[in-house]
Amino acid sequence: MGRYARITGWGKYLPQRVVTNAELETRINTSDSWIRSRTGIGQRHVAADTETASSMAAVAGEKALEVAGLPASSLDLVIAATVTAERIFPACASMVQHALGAERAAAFDVNAACSGFIHALTTAWQFLKAGSYDTALVVGSEVYSRILNWDDRSTCVLFGDGAGAVVLQAYDSPPGLLSFVLANDGSAADILYVPGPCGVRSPSQDGRYYLAMNGPEVYKRAVNAMTSASRKAIEAAGLDVRHIELFIPHQANRRIIETTARRLGLPLERVFIDVEQYGNTSAASIPIALCEAAEGGRLQRGDHLVLVGIGGGLAWGALVLEWGTGPAPGV
Ligand code: ACO
Repeated sequence: MGRYARITGWGKYLPQRVVTNAELETRINTSDSWIRSRTGIGQRHVAADTETASSMAAVAGEKALEVAGLPASSLDLVIAATVTAERIFPACASMVQHALGAERAAAFDVNAACSGFIHALTTAWQFLKAGSYDTALVVGSEVYSRILNWDDRSTCVLFGDGAGAVVLQAYDSPPGLLSFVLANDGSAADILYVPGPCGVRSPSQDGRYYLAMNGPEVYKRAVNAMTSASRKAIEAAGLDVRHIELFIPHQANRRIIETTARRLGLPLERVFIDVEQYGNTSAASIPIALCEAAEGGRLQRGDHLVLVGIGGGLAWGALVLEWGTGPAPGV
């Protein structure tokens, strides 16, 4: 019998400190109206000096385990999607495994930038579908505040810090994850990247590893890629866009989300948007949004959801799932 994978727990963590657009107005040459009209962002959370991707991920993970009603010792696998881990190694997932006390779990990170959560969830699903593991924790956690040049108004206004997590469990019957599409175009690596300490030394780098981006090019490609990946994943699930009750895209920018939804023919009532509160939290944005949707009562058993994201790589992907947490009725 085929094994199904179901999301049975969810959690999120946002640092306490909120930086509003009004605060940014006092630091750089920008305005609340420019940021809102171009991106839909009103504020973002910024990690305290003592917080890291793994410390935030551990809190989100603990909440997800609580919702699932599982002890950390039941986890077979921890995957962390992040590009802002506090160390090059060990992996963020390794620190999370230890912090949670998930002593039986294998742990590793996935680096696919803003689409990291889609890649990580797909990876965990394959382990469950193969019968190798029964229970996985998948977290997305980012502290982009540490890779932003806060004097560069074209990038620093866009991002925020935070973490989101889900517990994925194997079942022998639906509902569960239905289809995925992953894709990559390494020829576009230079339109969105962060230089690293192990690259070829360049004097201009000056020890600073700030995010660099060609905004308009990213915008165009993001809309095209998220639209086509969503269409392909919906079709692979044997569904039509009319069957999608909730579309949960990576929260980069309200205009990207709205244009993608329009192209797909999805009314905005069926699109989840929280970018106003959090900005772009990269790999954390989809699990944070999923968590908010679940906590807000927007997910009913049998609903079909699309999760879709794109980021540096360019790497992108979409997942379709049928929502439902416990055993199927009558099972
Ligand atoms: N405040 C005020 N002015 C600004 C700001 C700012 N924060 N940032 C840039 N500007 C100025 C520029 O200097 C430029 O001025 P100039 O014309 O005098 O040179 C002007 O605004 C550019 O304006 P627009 O062309 O209207 O900008 P655009 O509509 O392209 O919006 C934006 C820029 C928001 C970055 C857009 O290109 C975009 O959303 N791109 C996608 C980027 C993204 O979401 N990246 C996230 C990572 S990838 C991902 O997650 C999918």
